[in-house]
Amino acid sequence: MKYGEHYRLSTVAVAISLTLGLGLVGCSTTQDETDQAARAAAHEMVSKMSVDEKLNILVGPGYGNDGTNAKNSVKGTAGYINGVNNAEEGIDLPAVVLADGPAGVRLDATRKNDPNTYHATAFPIGVLLASSWDTNLAQTVAESIGQEARAYGVDFWLAPGMNIQRNPLNGRNFEYYSEDPFVTAKIAESITRGVQEEGIGVTIKHFIANNSETNRRTVNNIISPRALREIYLRGFEDTVETAQPWAIMSSYNKVNGTYTAQRYDLLTDVLRNEWGFNGLVMSDWFAGDNSVEMINAGNDSIQPGGVNMVTKEKQLQALQQGYKDGKLKDAEINLSTERIVTQMLKTPAAQNQPLTNHPNLSTNANVSRYAAEQGMILLKNHQQALPLQANQAVAMFGIAQQLTQKGGTGSGDVHPDHLVTITEGLSQQFKVDATLRNTYQTWFNTHRVEHTDQFGISKTYTCEEPTLTAAQYAQAAKTNDAAVVTLSRMAGEGSDRTVTKGDYLLTDDETALINNVSNAFHAVGKKVIVVLNIPGVIDTSWSERVDSILLAYMPGEEAGYAVANILSGKTNPSGKLTQTFPNHYNDVPSSQSFFGSDTNGDGEIDTNYYNEGIMVGYRYYTTENKPVAYPFGYGLSYTNFQYDNSQVTLNTLDKLGANGQVSLKTTIANTGKLTGKEVAEVYISAPQGKLVKPAIELKAFAKTTALQPGEKESLSFDIPAKWLASFDTKANQWIIEPGQYQAYIAPSSDITGIEPVKFTVKKTVVVAHTTPNALALPEGFEVDSTGGVELN
Ligand code: BGC
Repeated sequence: MKYGEHYRLSTVAVAISLTLGLGLVGCSTTQDETDQAARAAAHEMVSKMSVDEKLNILVGPGYGNDGTNAKNSVKGTAGYINGVNNAEEGIDLPAVVLADGPAGVRLDATRKNDPNTYHATAFPIGVLLASSWDTNLAQTVAESIGQEARAYGVDFWLAPGMNIQRNPLNGRNFEYYSEDPFVTAKIAESITRGVQEEGIGVTIKHFIANNSETNRRTVNNIISPRALREIYLRGFEDTVETAQPWAIMSSYNKVNGTYTAQRYDLLTDVLRNEWGFNGLVMSDWFAGDNSVEMINAGNDSIQPGGVNMVTKEKQLQALQQGYKDGKLKDAEINLSTERIVTQMLKTPAAQNQPLTNHPNLSTNANVSRYAAEQGMILLKNHQQALPLQANQAVAMFGIAQQLTQKGGTGSGDVHPDHLVTITEGLSQQFKVDATLRNTYQTWFNTHRVEHTDQFGISKTYTCEEPTLTAAQYAQAAKTNDAAVVTLSRMAGEGSDRTVTKGDYLLTDDETALINNVSNAFHAVGKKVIVVLNIPGVIDTSWSERVDSILLAYMPGEEAGYAVANILSGKTNPSGKLTQTFPNHYNDVPSSQSFFGSDTNGDGEIDTNYYNEGIMVGYRYYTTENKPVAYPFGYGLSYTNFQYDNSQVTLNTLDKLGANGQVSLKTTIANTGKLTGKEVAEVYISAPQGKLVKPAIELKAFAKTTALQPGEKESLSFDIPAKWLASFDTKANQWIIEPGQYQAYIAPSSDITGIEPVKFTVKKTVVVAHTTPNALALPEGFEVDSTGGVELN
């Protein structure tokens, strides 16, 4: 290369890094300008690269290896995108580091021959954070995560997880936010903003329909385009359009016969051409079965690189061969490389930002605890059994008081420097029965069974419940003011949950424990509180036997303190469910089709039929009038709220069509005796036109500030046209149908007794046109009126 060219490139690189740097410190450079500068620099840089250098960017370095031109070797992360070091061409593009989430930054806490530690804060699991319905809080958590990522030299965070909780048994529901796409979108957008404001890219995942773990690498999900659009894609669509994530991760599974990583219609027609996604698409780890097809479809980065697990294909060689054979062309290689390099140039690695390896773990512990408290849900509180009074004598039962679960296993795990157990937390605020506490401690120390997760890294334990005598129960009831029974469950990546005792159902020991504690304490007029330290929905048919139930989910490293603060009333619970607790597992609309079917008789599940279409979660229960244990959107407080003066304040749908909106407002008053916050939810009941609609759908929500007794707050809600539309598959359009719409501004999806406010739409509003036939069903399937698929 000539000197002049070299000089020019270096100048461009400096200019870009300055521009990008300005963008990051929040000066006048906008995100768009930063992106444009990065895109131009990437274009220039890629034009100087050899084909081999480019292919080496498209395929990761292989699991556990540092990337080409890695400046930081960060241990325990998920992978790298290779860089390029070519002095002759003046290119010094460092490899970038990819690390998991969503409950924090996943890395190894210790390194060989290194006395330092690399702990990261364990934040509450996704579903608990979403249950706060607090988008500002989600953003704060994300900022803390972004700061930790930056401190440790991580460039892309492999989260948030945005899959819809189609069925309670999905093993990874704990990482995801909701059975509803609107809550999912709003939480994911805040998370995206928070992390990206710290200069780290998010990777929203798993795109799309990774809604079960059973044979996740090969399973074929048969889903109608309407259900895909309205339920499974919708949260991703909104997040792409409103928060511009730097990356998106395609999923392991197939959709309608083709691996998602190899679907041009999904990754190019829909994601890029319809939604305007500007970032890079990376595969899930070892996903897909044809590397050339992945690049051609628009899956730019093949991760983690190496050998594909299903096909044993060597991915880099496959691309080289594809190039030789003409199946992979320069145009596609350049396109994908430029998309990747554009995002790489924005990272801390490319900008040579120093890493401290010292994130502020103590500040972030407080953020984690606060977030956990804001999400926890009070499911039951008979005769105000809670809050307990400070210093009351509490008898603690259940091995989970010791075996407290901070989060799930797999890539969603985090390695914090501490975990506050539920016993430890409660001991700070109450007189915890020491005899019982010692009994549980000794039992746990001698009976726990250690396991390691699928990566061989995280230690987890299981432990049976100890058997207590009738005398022990009676003594505890006599000497304490109340009983707290804690039950826990584990879940993790790679397998689904089961409707068995010990998972969805209580074990016989747990049932006996609840019965024995309740009998003993109720006999002497004392209350029984159950704390659920679980990853997702379980059977709650035992709830009548206890006075209060706190759904704590998996609260992260400060679990015990957060639970104690709620039980003592230091924090008034304000979390609400983002998933329904049904009466019975068999009531779940997909209970008959989950975990999928073995269609070729080889003994393996290979196909999942999404028979229920758009009728997922509360959409189904409310439409079918099926009673549930705890409805979507539900959660109690220690105070009471009254909704007044709900009204529609604006309707520009007829005037502005696709650019129109509906606005509403309500006034919320704290009518109880304690300070508290309330989440108000807006459910829309749309007219039944040519498309059948669910009874109600969530279209907006807001949370009040902490209201003192007697205080009021006015909340307003804006619903853009797009969120009111339904998907008309035949017309390839999103439409708002004419007629009268009812809006319920309500404390939960149980809208019984709520007077709706109304607005009308005079003629059909076409909100968007979509790619004809994108994501079409394979031959041989029929779709019912709610998008459910059936074999012909
Ligand atoms: C998971 C992803 C994760 C990746 C890297 C995969 O097995 O499905 O969610 O980001 O591994 O650890």
